[in-house]
Amino acid sequence: MTARIVMKLKVKAARLATPSVLHLTLVHPTRPALPAWEPGAHVDLRLPDGKIRQYSLCGDPQDLSAYEIAVKREDAGRGASLWAHQALVEGATAHVSAPRNNFPIREATRHVFVLGGIGVTPGLSMVRKLRAEGAHVAVHFCARSAAEAPLLAELSAACGDRLATWFSSEGRRFDPAAVGPYAAGSVLYVCGPGRLLQAVRDAAGALGWPDESVHAEAFQATLDENFKPEPFEAKLASTGATLHVPADRSLLDVLREHGVTMPSSCELGVCGSCVCGYTEGVVIHRDAAISTADRQDRIAPCVSRARVSVTLDL
Ligand code: FES
Repeated sequence: MTARIVMKLKVKAARLATPSVLHLTLVHPTRPALPAWEPGAHVDLRLPDGKIRQYSLCGDPQDLSAYEIAVKREDAGRGASLWAHQALVEGATAHVSAPRNNFPIREATRHVFVLGGIGVTPGLSMVRKLRAEGAHVAVHFCARSAAEAPLLAELSAACGDRLATWFSSEGRRFDPAAVGPYAAGSVLYVCGPGRLLQAVRDAAGALGWPDESVHAEAFQATLDENFKPEPFEAKLASTGATLHVPADRSLLDVLREHGVTMPSSCELGVCGSCVCGYTEGVVIHRDAAISTADRQDRIAPCVSRARVSVTLDL
């Protein structure tokens, strides 16, 4: 786990932004200001069992008196969101890391966003900043309905006439081709579930967007439930040691078990903290953190595996 300051923050306000999304305002119990952050940043929320989950900051980066996060309740998830919805009531304590930004605003003359459901959270603070700077912005927000679209009022206020909403239950299912053809100097940000990311990447590719102009933040691992893990061997380039990775263990777990210090955060293939290089082998990429171009030599050992063997640049 990466070493990051963990603060005990107090829940100042907890309200349901939609029937399944809890919007939390967190403050320090004694200090007036929290560590600064940039739009797109997230914090780690530490659970009682020591595990962590990442949540994008969705408030105003100029206002350091509080952090705002939004937690979508995943009834079929691994319990973290259910715990947050039950335990993080007003006055409760939340163990939260200092912010880190894996999804920064890029240099561009035109910024196009596709935000799906809870994926609105990083986009909201990014759009606010870009609009305040007078940048050219276009935002597509997809959800089942307006009632199920978290932070819709806040996003509308930030976007003005630059917002297009796509509510499937109201007959407007998102068409990824709506991102339009690539124009030089444009950048495309996509935040939401893995299937939205893939659909937008595919459409953007067909519309001439270069890979490096598309930036994605997954809000859900894209793991295929039918995937059957097989054992494989992992060789460490620095020592030549060969480690056996059984079918029921992750490469990350096996590396740590053999004394290799590896950072990690989400352990879901989403955040990119554990990513390392590899030099040989056929990797089965199962993450949503590494770009297509980088998959030739980068692997996320928390979820990805190899066919037969892989040589890691460790
Ligand atoms: S720990 Fe987040 S991608 Fe591996």
